[in-house]
Amino acid sequence: MSIGFFDSGLGGLTVLAETYKAMPHQDYIYIADTLHVPYGTKQAEDVKKYVLDATSILAEQGIEALVVACNTATSIAIKELREQYHFPVIGMEPAVKPALEMSRRAGLRVLVFGTPLTLKQPKYHMLVSRIDDESLVDSMPLPELVHYCESLVFDEDEMKQYFNNKLAGYDLNQYGTIVLGCTHYSYYRDILSQVIPAHIKIIDGNAGTVHRLSEVLGHPESHVSEHKGTVSLMCTNNDPEYIQKMHSAWKRLL
Ligand code: DGL
Repeated sequence: MSIGFFDSGLGGLTVLAETYKAMPHQDYIYIADTLHVPYGTKQAEDVKKYVLDATSILAEQGIEALVVACNTATSIAIKELREQYHFPVIGMEPAVKPALEMSRRAGLRVLVFGTPLTLKQPKYHMLVSRIDDESLVDSMPLPELVHYCESLVFDEDEMKQYFNNKLAGYDLNQYGTIVLGCTHYSYYRDILSQVIPAHIKIIDGNAGTVHRLSEVLGHPESHVSEHKGTVSLMCTNNDPEYIQKMHSAWKRLL
């Protein structure tokens, strides 16, 4: 059986790519909710419905586990997804805890990037207030970055300019870690690293998600298999042009 991956659009492919590299013998099926992308600027109640509808398409195919490769969808609907399905459901949330551990040791702050909807959720505020007793965490929504990604804008100069504008008001010497709390943002990791001081670490939740999935599946790659895994890419509006776009984004990541 395949492992299902889900995101509003192209972002979750960054998680799938890391998973595929670690577990190349598994079969994967990915769905992007092209009918509703972006999620991050919409209402929580609407997004919840979109997430349940799109993931039901994967569930109908018969999947072994579901990776919600989207921080926004996780923060809105992970509880309902776990109630609804009998297979394991793995969610993603901004990697604030490891970031804070790293920064605190160096006496530095943490900057979390996420979608407006993720950063507004009680789930996010509870996560931060539980661990950030010294008020070291700052959060910044970057909705434009999802738009750039969905339009396949990866031009270095343009994106450097974008980050420079966004970070203009910050004294970056005070920060030790930047958290990419949206899977779309991981495409821009290298470009971002070029506009921030070298001591700042950039982290996302992708490696942690791969690790969790591997645990849930019982570390399948420890049994060497001859089977070369397959990756099938789908989208909710069945647009062949978008499928092309997914393939071109996927090639950047391998
Ligand atoms: N990739 C998604 C996330 O991780 C959501 C982007 C969006 O649709 O706004 O949050």
